[in-house]
Amino acid sequence: MDFKHILLEKKGPIGTITVNRPDKLNALNTEVVSEIRSGFETLDTDPEVRVIVITGKGEKAFIAGADISEMQDIDPLQAMAFAQNGQATLRAMERSDKIVIAAINGYALGGGLELAMACDLRIASDTAKVGQPEIKIGVIPGWGGTQRLARLVGKTKAKELVLTGKAIPASEAEAIGLLTMVVPLDTLMDAVMKVAHSLAELGRFSLAAAKHAIDDGCEVDFEKAQEIERQFFALCFAHSDQKEGMTAFLEKRTPRFS
Ligand code: COA
Repeated sequence: MDFKHILLEKKGPIGTITVNRPDKLNALNTEVVSEIRSGFETLDTDPEVRVIVITGKGEKAFIAGADISEMQDIDPLQAMAFAQNGQATLRAMERSDKIVIAAINGYALGGGLELAMACDLRIASDTAKVGQPEIKIGVIPGWGGTQRLARLVGKTKAKELVLTGKAIPASEAEAIGLLTMVVPLDTLMDAVMKVAHSLAELGRFSLAAAKHAIDDGCEVDFEKAQEIERQFFALCFAHSDQKEGMTAFLEKRTPRFS
């Protein structure tokens, strides 16, 4: 499929989606969202791809939010569909068995931060700014922002960010646990690729199990969460990577995961 607004790239086990609309700070309209969804599905179903990176074109913005010009005149039913489409796209990333990394190269606002929060890791440049500014344009986040932000940083900080709409610098976002890591802008993609390649060398089953155990466990009570963890732990022993990983350790060699 030919894409107009995203660039899709595959280098060995790493697939990259670059939102390519820098003149609009990579703002997401329905067409861009549908390309991201389709591009993600392409990488997600490619057995060679182990880790998926999402970034924005240019040095100014990762994604400056959903496209305000598209939302300006829609009615509540269209707004419902707009939210549902965005939520489903982000949920597919979150539910993927692959590890997804947001490489945040500038503004991650509104839908941009919401997309980043659906990723497993958020690695940002020191120039990045993140926030949920929707309140300033008379609405609230609609792509999971109120929910994922509260889960990631707690209600206190989530309310501060969503109620004020202020954008905070990357250093502050890292300090409250919203970002995984902050690096100088000119080293961002090297840092992201280093992390991506180190993940790609690990066992794909245990990575997916770890991701889902954390995500699923956070949504249920502790007893149920422990059960989820137990089941994923036990399932790892059904995979050859467990024997290989433990044997390699005892034989003092590097494991060769499947
Ligand atoms: N939707 C639509 N267009 C957007 C956009 C968005 N979310 N964010 C930026 N753009 C467009 C601007 O309209 C402008 O287009 P133009 O050149 O045709 O006028 C272009 O991108 C550049 O943005 P500009 O505002 O001129 O850049 P800036 O450096 O002065 O400010 C921001 C950068 C990120 C602070 C500012 O663009 C902004 O506040 N964007 C909206 C953020 C937001 O509210 N997102 C949540 C939406 S729900």
